[in-house]
Amino acid sequence: MSPALKDISALTADEAASELERLAREIALHDRHYYEKDAPKISDAAYDALRARNAAIEARFPELVRADSPSARVGARPSDQFAEVVHALPKLSLGNAFSDEDVADFAARVVKFLNLKEEPAFTAEPKIDGLAISLRYENGVLVQAATRGDGRAGENVTANIRTLDEIPERLPGGAPEVLEVRGEVYMSHADFAALNKRQEAAGKKTYMNPRNAAAGSLRQIDPSVTAQRPLRVFGYGWGEVSAALAETQFQALARLRGLNFPVNPDLALCADVAAMLAHYRDLDARRAGLGYDIDGVVYKVDRLDWQARLGFVARAPRWAIAHKFAAAQPMTVLNAI
Ligand code: IVH
Repeated sequence: MSPALKDISALTADEAASELERLAREIALHDRHYYEKDAPKISDAAYDALRARNAAIEARFPELVRADSPSARVGARPSDQFAEVVHALPKLSLGNAFSDEDVADFAARVVKFLNLKEEPAFTAEPKIDGLAISLRYENGVLVQAATRGDGRAGENVTANIRTLDEIPERLPGGAPEVLEVRGEVYMSHADFAALNKRQEAAGKKTYMNPRNAAAGSLRQIDPSVTAQRPLRVFGYGWGEVSAALAETQFQALARLRGLNFPVNPDLALCADVAAMLAHYRDLDARRAGLGYDIDGVVYKVDRLDWQARLGFVARAPRWAIAHKFAAAQPMTVLNAI
């Protein structure tokens, strides 16, 4: 955050209003670069800082919250190069935690909301840095795949998704009649490096990072181009289902695994905040060796009836949070000795 920015507690209402206007414009611009052009202009940490400042100003001046406030919006409008798919259940975002204290506060809010005597169990799994996908199965057959878009409606990328080896076209028996699997499409570090090398040799566009390469590869007008791109997927949840998958998040993901969806091997069931933080530290330590980008750990209340009671607030569930890793240190350039 720039040192020129005034402390929020010292802002006048006029200053707050003009800053909220500037932030709305700036965040919308970055959303377009990130979601529509697959080419971000700022780091994720800088983007999170803009959103955090916007939210903090809105918290101090609730009467100044704008109709086009970034806090009420996720992602970007679907591109008109693809047909629009209206999500049966809106696809929302996650709140962020940046410290152990934020995680403890999140768990305390859950305990208070549910009026519990002790901390409930949470799942903890890597937050994959790719792009969100919804895969709709009817009677065990893949019928539609959609990107997140703005959360209300996404892009129909069914033909492109059918080219991914890891996504089952048909499910084994026992799946609910309607099942929308939600997950993240990503590209491994090795595949990203090889793709950029091939692109460069062919004089074609190279990608900034694996996430942009995954998004750019999936959102191709010609699915035969996607077919040549090494895209992978992890399922982490679901949207519309005609019958409950299980009673807990952990069991539901085991069920998805049983239906042949890749589910992240580092999914853990944690009895309390201490176990969640231990898993976070373990993943942070192993992060560079995983072979794909993750930018944090997502914690979710394990019991699905409790998730339903907790529900959502604004653009995020009350029952889950993303604990972000500290941003990578900027590289020091040594000009002379
Ligand atoms: S759960 C209600 N779990 O992060 C939202 N999201 O900031 C539930 N993401 O676009 C989302 N890995 O695509 C969840 N293990 C994970 C995830 C994950 C990556 C993405 C997701 C969403 C974004 C939310």
